[in-house]
Amino acid sequence: MMIRDAVEGDLPAIIDIYNAAVATSTATAQLEPVTPAEARDWLKDHSPDRFPLWVLEIDGQIAGYLGCKPFLPRCAYRGTAELSVYVDERFRRRGVAKRLLQHTLARAPLFGINALVGLIFGDNEPSLRLFEQLGFRRWGLFPRIARVEAAERDLIVIGRHCPARTDSQPEVDSDSARSGPFELMQTLIEYRQQPIHGQLEKIRAKYSMLHLDVLLLIYHFAKNCAGHILEIGAFVGGATMAATLGVRASGKSKKVIAIEPGGTLKHSRLGSRDIWRDFQRNLRKQRLSEFVTSIKGQSFDPGILATVQEALGPEQIGLLIVDADGAVKRHLDIYKEKLADAAWVLIDDYFGPQENIKVSATRKDVDNFVASGRLEPLGFYGWGTWVGRWRVKPRIA
Ligand SMILES: C[S@@+](CC[C@H](N)C(=O)[O-])C[C@H]1O[C@@H](n2cnc3c(N)ncnc32)[C@H](O)[C@@H]1O
Repeated sequence: MMIRDAVEGDLPAIIDIYNAAVATSTATAQLEPVTPAEARDWLKDHSPDRFPLWVLEIDGQIAGYLGCKPFLPRCAYRGTAELSVYVDERFRRRGVAKRLLQHTLARAPLFGINALVGLIFGDNEPSLRLFEQLGFRRWGLFPRIARVEAAERDLIVIGRHCPARTDSQPEVDSDSARSGPFELMQTLIEYRQQPIHGQLEKIRAKYSMLHLDVLLLIYHFAKNCAGHILEIGAFVGGATMAATLGVRASGKSKKVIAIEPGGTLKHSRLGSRDIWRDFQRNLRKQRLSEFVTSIKGQSFDPGILATVQEALGPEQIGLLIVDADGAVKRHLDIYKEKLADAAWVLIDDYFGPQENIKVSATRKDVDNFVASGRLEPLGFYGWGTWVGRWRVKPRIA
């Protein structure tokens, strides 16, 4: 299955799919088939950067499509989009609509969409069930508002915030509720008044490529998470130090396990001729060596995995920091068995120039994990770093 932006050449397939739905009168309130001219106008109403129209291809054929459009024209609704999803009858019961919806949920914040609504006939139980499986809730009912042939039908407004909010997601646990995007932003602001802010500012200047707020989040998650901390790509130690200070502040005996193969890096501020040597020296300088289990090697080497497993023992990982080579899927596939449910995950290089290979590879992998429900995004903060949680059981599968 491949999902991509729709282009004009897809219109005949889109029209066929839509008109098949018109003919059954179950999924659309339109009673007459759409004409090619109408469909062309309709394509113009979508824009790839604001209100996308996506098609899902299977073996080169359009199996379904999903479009987002403004919910209402008034300014206050600019963050709300109405979505419609249709599947070719030949591709039913293959998870096409679900994939398109998951794709949309993963990307909605990137389009400035913070709420999605769907308008569904009250008797269209399969669609209502699918949306509800994906965290949508029934936000409104217009009783007997539509007349299709002789029958009056209810219209249900089904909606979901993006990312999900605790009020519309009753299944979210209390830890998540305390750790939503706004609470975390507040926490970051509070840290600005505390000595740790200055301490991490100095650490960042000397040893880290990450944004100061990301180091503060690492400190905060390391302090509060349940489980050990695993870092892939320690470089010269900036994020390792932030995590270690967090663990120290927690007063608990959590381990910080940091993997780094070493090498050299040319960089105007942080260049190193011997990354491993500098990493060790920097930890010593900060008097943090004894709190860090540093492992020299590539994360995906079986010997390194065995060393990490030994260091973890029976415990799980409560915070995972990935800032290495863009091979996010490879890293997660190797270490996911050790990740606790709701473990915090920070992955750098998610945002950045599209043409950057590390960024595009990272984004693709992260988006796929989000779409499958294994990674739960927190929202977008604009540091280039993706922040969210790991789910042992996908919440939206
Ligand atoms: C961008 S740097 C990390 C920066 C660091 N997080 C900081 O706070 O500045 C990426 C590091 O990942 C390391 N790396 C690359 N591939 C790796 C792998 N497979 N396993 C572990 N580390 C890796 C590189 O040697 C490099 O030092």
